[in-house]
Formats: sequence, C-alpha cells, structure tokens
Amino acid sequence: MYLTDEEKSMLNGERGEIIQKCMKVLVTLGEIYGAKRMLKIKSVHFPGVSYRVTGDAGLNYVKEASTQGSFIVPATLNNVGIDMHNWEELGFDPDFAHSQIELSKAYAKMGAVMSNSCTPYLYGNIPMFGEHVAWGESSAICFVNSVIGARTNREGGPTALAAAITGRVPEYGLHLDENRKGTIRVAVNVELLSDTDFASLGYYIGTIVGKGIPVFTGIKNRPTTENLKALSAALASSGAVALFHIVGITPEAATLEAVIDKDVPVYSFGEKEYAEAFEKFNYSGDVDFVVFGCPHASIQEIRKIASLLKGKKVKAETWICTSHQIKDLAAQMDSLEILEEAGVTIVCDTCPVLCQTLPRGYKNVVTNSGKMAHYIRGLWDVKSRLAQVEDCVKAAVSGRLE
Ligand code: F3S
Repeated sequence: MYLTDEEKSMLNGERGEIIQKCMKVLVTLGEIYGAKRMLKIKSVHFPGVSYRVTGDAGLNYVKEASTQGSFIVPATLNNVGIDMHNWEELGFDPDFAHSQIELSKAYAKMGAVMSNSCTPYLYGNIPMFGEHVAWGESSAICFVNSVIGARTNREGGPTALAAAITGRVPEYGLHLDENRKGTIRVAVNVELLSDTDFASLGYYIGTIVGKGIPVFTGIKNRPTTENLKALSAALASSGAVALFHIVGITPEAATLEAVIDKDVPVYSFGEKEYAEAFEKFNYSGDVDFVVFGCPHASIQEIRKIASLLKGKKVKAETWICTSHQIKDLAAQMDSLEILEEAGVTIVCDTCPVLCQTLPRGYKNVVTNSGKMAHYIRGLWDVKSRLAQVEDCVKAAVSGRLE
C-alpha cells in the first residue's frame, strides 16, 4: 500500500508507540481489503462505548491508549451504558456505573466529545458531502452514507480508535465510488406518512437486501430527517445495510442511472409488504414498557409526544431516549414539563439496548422504532410491538394495546 512520508513515520514508530500500533492496525486492514492508500478523515463516531459491550478488556485497552495518545480529528461517542447524570435515580448498579464513567473519562481524556448519542449528526458531527469519515453505530453509518453522502465503512471500536489517533482510514469499501452503486431496486407503492412507516419499509427491505445497497423509487412525500433516521436504523437492524439511495432525494441519486449501472433485482413495497412488516411485531395485550427515541429522539419528536400526552398520565413505564442537548432544549420549551407531569422518563446517553439491564423485569414492550422492536426482544426476552407514535402514546396511557 502506498503511504505518504507522514504515514510512514507513524508506522515506523517515530511519532510514538500508540500511533505506531494504530497505524499497524489500519495498514493490516488495508492489506486485507486491497486498499491502495490511506485517506485522511474528517471525523470519527465511536461505537462500542457502553461498558456492557466493552467489559473490562475494552476498558483497559482504552485506558491504556489514553495514557499515550489523543485524537487528531473531531470524535463523538455513541450511547453509553447509563444515563450519566441520573444513573442512581434510574437504579443502575453502582459498580457498573463507575466502570462506565471510567471508560467515558478515558475517551474524554483523548479528546472525544461526550455526546453519548447515536444521532451525532443532530449535534455538530455533521460531515459534508463526499467527505471521508470513520463512523460506527449501524444506524448512524447508514444515515451519514446515505442522507449526507459522506463516506464510511462500518467501523468497530478498535478501528475507530486507530482512525481517531492517526486521522486515517484505508481506502476500500464504501470509500470508493464503484462500491456505492445500488444492488436492488425497490418500487415503493404505498404512501409513507410517519417515521414508523419508514421503519416498516426499512425493516422489510433489510431482511431482503442483507449487506446490499437498496435504491428506492416512488417515495412521493419528501422525507423528514426523522423519517430518514427511522429508515436508516431499520435497514441496519433487520439487514446490515450501510448505504441506501432514494432517487430524487438522497444526494448521490439525482437519477436512477446515477446509482444503478447494471441489471439488479426489483422488488415492490406495497400495502401487503407494509402490513407484513408490522405483522412481525404484533404483540397485543397488557403493556408495561413503552420506548421512544431509537435512534435518539430529536426535539421535533419530543414535541410531538409531549403534545399527545398533554394533560394525561402514563400507566406503563415510558421512556424517551435522547441526548442531554435535546433534553436541555426540551426543558427550555414546555415539552419537558408536560412529559414529566405525564410521568414519562427522559433517559439520556443510553437506551434499552445498550444500558446495563432492562428495568424492573418488563415483559411487554411497545415502540415506534423498527430497530428497537427488533433488538429488544432478542436481547431481553420480551415481546415487542411496532406501532405508530399515536398508538404508542395510547398504550402508555392505558397500559394496553390491542
Ligand atoms: Fe440508538 Fe440504542 Fe436505537 S444506540 S439506534 S437508541 S438501539
């Protein structure tokens, strides 16, 4: 692989041991994938920063790195395993919480922004079209590649760390034009009106396309940021989609020809397929846990839930997962007060998939997120129901969903 003089000096150890170690990781990776050179990156988003994921091995690795190195590009952190400010109130185990705080501090020492959120593109980590980045977290990867048109492969914790310390990634995979073309076409024949509708599309197509790149046509209503966030998360949970295109909407897909250059299978997503996506998560009956905010809720989502809950009280435990920045915004408006009066818990920094345990042994979960409906039942042995936000609110208030 071609390396610049600067990259050679990193590899030779002239710039310190940790930089050498990181460059070795990236060169090895590049050689495996046939990369011709390294690319300079504009930012990193770290996955795997929950202590539940890293355990002590990861904690020690990051702590050791923090004694020697620092990040040379902006780097944000994904969800951690606790609400960093309210972990005691939420009943998290103190030993777990202290290990998480230690891990987060090690990242902060190297220069990570403590965003603790899976939607870094809502809080300042916003690359530009065509820029190379090194991001982890499946939903964020899918969003940044597809909606922003920046370029990243699916980075794990160790490669993201190496990228943040060296400012480089090897040039392969989705960094290259030829690997960003569609592998299936999906004709959407149903009107998609909500985030949950987009999640149903993502969930259904993710199971078909796997690691491929779906190209959507026929989406008539211009999607909102929240719609695209829901689509990204669902595609990346039932499948392993890291990039999609919507013709006439996402930046690389001005025309169908721009993103499909060969014969590809064509699928249809109509009323039948839409209903099938919901069928997979069809629990009905008593509800003890309602979750919003997967990926982390935006202020617009929080405002909507607050407007639906104004003057009501929830019977089921109800969480809205988001970042501290968005919670602070909600506090400056009337949304936080309305939600707290209704009995809703705003959980920051984490989510039921990455937190230490699901609280209080809940069994029947309702959510408006395809990704949450999918993961929570595999992870915690619960039943899950995917529902529109209005129905989730009704379930939260009545404690039932038919
Ligand atoms: Fe984010 Fe957790 Fe969902 S990391 S995408 S809220 S599973």
